[in-house]
Amino acid sequence: MADRPYIVGNWKMHGTRAMLAEARAIDRAAERLMKVEVALAPPFTLIHATRKEASLIGVGAQDCHPADGGAHTGDISAAMLKDAGAGFTIVGHSERRADHGEKDADVRAKADAAIAAGMNVIVCVGETEAQRDAGKAESVVAEQLKGSLPVDDDVDGKVTVAYEPVWAIGTGRTPTVEDIGAMHRSIRKVLQGIYGEEEGAKVRILYGGSVKPDNAAELLAADEVGGALVGGASLTAESFLGIIVAAAEAQEG
Ligand code: PGA
Repeated sequence: MADRPYIVGNWKMHGTRAMLAEARAIDRAAERLMKVEVALAPPFTLIHATRKEASLIGVGAQDCHPADGGAHTGDISAAMLKDAGAGFTIVGHSERRADHGEKDADVRAKADAAIAAGMNVIVCVGETEAQRDAGKAESVVAEQLKGSLPVDDDVDGKVTVAYEPVWAIGTGRTPTVEDIGAMHRSIRKVLQGIYGEEEGAKVRILYGGSVKPDNAAELLAADEVGGALVGGASLTAESFLGIIVAAAEAQEG
């Protein structure tokens, strides 16, 4: 695994202020688990409060609008997120691609906007089950990467990729460790093609899709996996910490 595993909780459309207690507990525990870089992406409405409650973990958003501002009712710009305390944003999650018709070009515009606003980005990619069954998983993901990644050539530390097979999200199903390793190696090649050998080698690649405390150690040990993007299991401190502890133990070897 990469030097310091990066474990990110994506709360999706879950959480009111009552859930800040979970964020506090995660933050407190992170102090003992400094070998792992921990972050949470709560809904927009909790970003500011989470940032105030948590001092050690990263806090980010789940999406942003590509424009700096303007007549876009209901949308939030990258600068607004940064102002609220977000240090990063997820872009191109498959739920946004499916629910809001976001295409690769939209995802890239959002990623560029976030970086321009001084935030890091987690760019999500992943194939559907039909695409995997058709033997197209790696080519689909390669195309998504080529179309969605920010164009900035100085991406060091600013860009993380999350590989999330659509069929593994929220289903309890995961690819085999071999399949994850093969996909992450293929992603690494594409990253090096885009950003060059050296820069492309530094981009972290997270695995996401049904990561739980009991499978985290196995999934995190797959080739080229630098951490995890966790949905359902990040909603309570208890289960999210189970994953963080597994990452810390894997780090200790
Ligand atoms: P899950 O979601 O962990 O609930 O499968 C992962 C994600 O969509 O980021």
